[in-house]
Amino acid sequence: METPSGLVVIVGCSHPGADRLTEAVLEVSGYKRAHLVIGGFHYPSKATLDRLAGMTELVAPAHCSGDKAKTYIQKKHPEKFVIVRTGSVIEF
Ligand SMILES: [Fe+2]
Repeated sequence: METPSGLVVIVGCSHPGADRLTEAVLEVSGYKRAHLVIGGFHYPSKATLDRLAGMTELVAPAHCSGDKAKTYIQKKHPEKFVIVRTGSVIEF
């Protein structure tokens, strides 16, 4: 989704890897970097989360990302971490 803040990537249950999905979106969209990646990251590895963090300004793990992924992003990339829950509203 293109927003005034930049590209927002909304993923479902990212079985292929949220990093790989985002990489594919960047390729087809022509953007060099996403503003936000949000959605289910399906219990990603730390390597996946680090790669993902390198492609986006903000990361919002939700649904099947798991508490470990949320904690990892919050500690390793605190400037990128966005807390989202059911009913969260994000303005761009
Ligand atoms: Fe999942």
